[in-house]
Amino acid sequence: MKSKKRKAIFAGSFDPITNGHLDIICRASKLFDELQIGVLYNPNKKGLFDFDERVELIKSCTKHLKNIKIVSFDGLLVNYCKNNGIDTLVRGVRTGADIEYELQMAHMNRELDPDIETIILPTKVEHSFVSSSLVKEVVTVGGDVKNLVPKTVLDELERKTNRGNEKCM
Ligand code: PNS
Repeated sequence: MKSKKRKAIFAGSFDPITNGHLDIICRASKLFDELQIGVLYNPNKKGLFDFDERVELIKSCTKHLKNIKIVSFDGLLVNYCKNNGIDTLVRGVRTGADIEYELQMAHMNRELDPDIETIILPTKVEHSFVSSSLVKEVVTVGGDVKNLVPKTVLDELERKTNRGNEKCM
């Protein structure tokens, strides 16, 4: 009998994708037949990058991974999972503070759909302080984030915040 394809989703806002996200994506992709990267579509929430830009950046940094599918979702994540044959949510945690929040989400998602499991992967220690919001804050005021995001993301961050031009002056 053919065994069922194991599908998981790593969902988030990815505004923008960081090396921390990428680490979780690479590691989780080895655990499942297919790992979907679910980009939350929320036109009411304005980020630094618009939805299409976030998707393009994810595409450019994950093209070496063969079992990745980049998708968008809105509304409840568990509903997307149910409609798309996904039974596992992947989340990354950096610190103890993240665990509180992740447990709350995992419990809520189980309340909403007991058939969907959450697995939590600890990030590599070198990514334990990296977040999209801190990266944006630092780059906006001229800090160097080249070790924290993929090169394509760095270029786009610098372009958007005009830091690239300042470096040439
Ligand atoms: O980038 P983030 O903030 O870590 O992503 C959080 C995300 C998008 C995974 C979460 O907010 C989410 O699942 N939103 C969709 C709405 C939903 O299902 N909410 C209930 C979560 S318990």
